[in-house]
Amino acid sequence: MTDTYDTLLIERHEEGYAVVTLNRPEALNALNSALFADLAAFLDVVEHDDSVRCLILTGSGDKAFAAGADIKEMADQSYAQMYKANFFSHGHDRITRFRKPIIAAVNGFALGGGCELAMLCDFIVASDRAKFGQPEINLGVAPGIGGSQRLTRLVGKSKAMDMVLTARMMDAAEAERSGLASRVVPHETLMEEVRKIAAKIAGHSPLAVMANKEMVEAALETTLTQGVQFERRLFHSLFAFDDQKEGMAAFVEKRKPVFTGR
Ligand code: CAA
Repeated sequence: MTDTYDTLLIERHEEGYAVVTLNRPEALNALNSALFADLAAFLDVVEHDDSVRCLILTGSGDKAFAAGADIKEMADQSYAQMYKANFFSHGHDRITRFRKPIIAAVNGFALGGGCELAMLCDFIVASDRAKFGQPEINLGVAPGIGGSQRLTRLVGKSKAMDMVLTARMMDAAEAERSGLASRVVPHETLMEEVRKIAAKIAGHSPLAVMANKEMVEAALETTLTQGVQFERRLFHSLFAFDDQKEGMAAFVEKRKPVFTGR
């Protein structure tokens, strides 16, 4: 296994997580087809690798997480080409199918497709220098990787409309206040903080982590009654695993649990 990609840097940590760095600093990590293909390929590799139980996604350089889809790649595309390639659907769909948690460590601009990629992750930890926006209207287009839908669900219609229609950016404090980011941390300590979060998640039962992720995701797709029923059944099913016995026994015996993912 090489973990070598043209557009990504991969760093695996023995605590059970990997850091994926979008690595096109010369273009502020703009997302092109090659980058999405690399990301999809890496997710295929780690999906079934038990040594990786959580991912961190961040941007290279000090300025951007990702400044959007690559405008230079898109500029001359025809409708037929975009339609035939089903532009970016492959990357989008692969991320939504990934069953392990992905934390977006947003270290600067997360604009257009960059903001959409961050929202495709399970939660966003923002540096206090992060800036979020959907400025596609400036280019005569609109969000194309789920931004109009996910941003509206996260921050509500009023702020989503304001952002897509005016192209204004949200700073990190507003993003946290609005529910787009879960935490804001000082720029200098972003990766240190996110690594601690990833290590904590990786230390839990991987089966329980997957189930928790699946339940929260279901909340966006179902009615409350269906969602609660789904949660209840999944909760019951966790009692089939050794990790439930171990987690509860460890609590009763006042010791640290040792989860095996069985
Ligand atoms: N695509 C391609 N290249 C990009 C890029 C993008 N989205 N964003 C930045 N770059 C490139 C610039 O062209 C520049 O390259 P050169 O040095 O070769 O000219 C380099 O990155 C550095 O960028 P700037 O000189 O512009 O840096 P800045 O500090 O002056 O400005 C910025 C930073 C405000 C983020 C500005 O780069 C910018 O506005 N970028 C575009 C943001 C945008 O419109 N994003 C939406 C893209 S469309 C989209 O994402 C559609 C979708 O949903 C699918």
